[in-house]
Amino acid sequence: MKFFIDTANLKEIREAAGWGILDGVTTNPTLVAREKAPFADLIREICRAVPGPVSVECVAADAGPLVEEARRLAGLAPNVVVKIPLTREGLKATRTLSQEGIGVNTTLIFSTAQALLAAKAGSRFVSPFIGRLDDISQEGMDLVREILAVYENYTFQTEVIVASIRHPRHVIEAALLGAPVATVPFSVLDKLFHHPLTDIGIENFLKDWGRAVK
Ligand code: E4P
Repeated sequence: MKFFIDTANLKEIREAAGWGILDGVTTNPTLVAREKAPFADLIREICRAVPGPVSVECVAADAGPLVEEARRLAGLAPNVVVKIPLTREGLKATRTLSQEGIGVNTTLIFSTAQALLAAKAGSRFVSPFIGRLDDISQEGMDLVREILAVYENYTFQTEVIVASIRHPRHVIEAALLGAPVATVPFSVLDKLFHHPLTDIGIENFLKDWGRAVK
């Protein structure tokens, strides 16, 4: 399972990269806006910090401008993957960009039909937003299960990124389903370390080590 970090914060990215478990980054306009840094410089810096794919979102609406914007973003660094929402225009742009060798992460996926369209258009990644489905009382992980089952029937190269993750259980459920990628906010990545019995165990071992004959 690949771990991406869902943030545009360089400190968080560098910290997680230092743990040796980071395979990529996903950003979106909301995350970028939080950083108050010049956009292109920020993306270049993120791409230098992590060798894996860095998803950067396009905001144009029509296919022509989307393709232009995506080419510009892809020119920022070799590991940029462009994020394009699943719309008719987005799909047209995805086909063109995929044929040019520019990786597309189809974002804002909320149905299996959308994920099927994205795979047909040649997307490198699809991002089902499970937390946002949970927020409206739908089981987000059911969507991931269904997309994976559909992809299993064919030879699509598209990888599912489980996105909009809210807590460690989401990460475990994604792993149980065999999802190839989870994109995880820093706060959730950090929580994956914690278990009170680990803390108590370390404390007790240290105490006992103090009493050991050395
Ligand atoms: C994924 O690529 C998105 O950036 C992200 O997971 C959205 O998560 P949110 O629903 O917490 O905003």
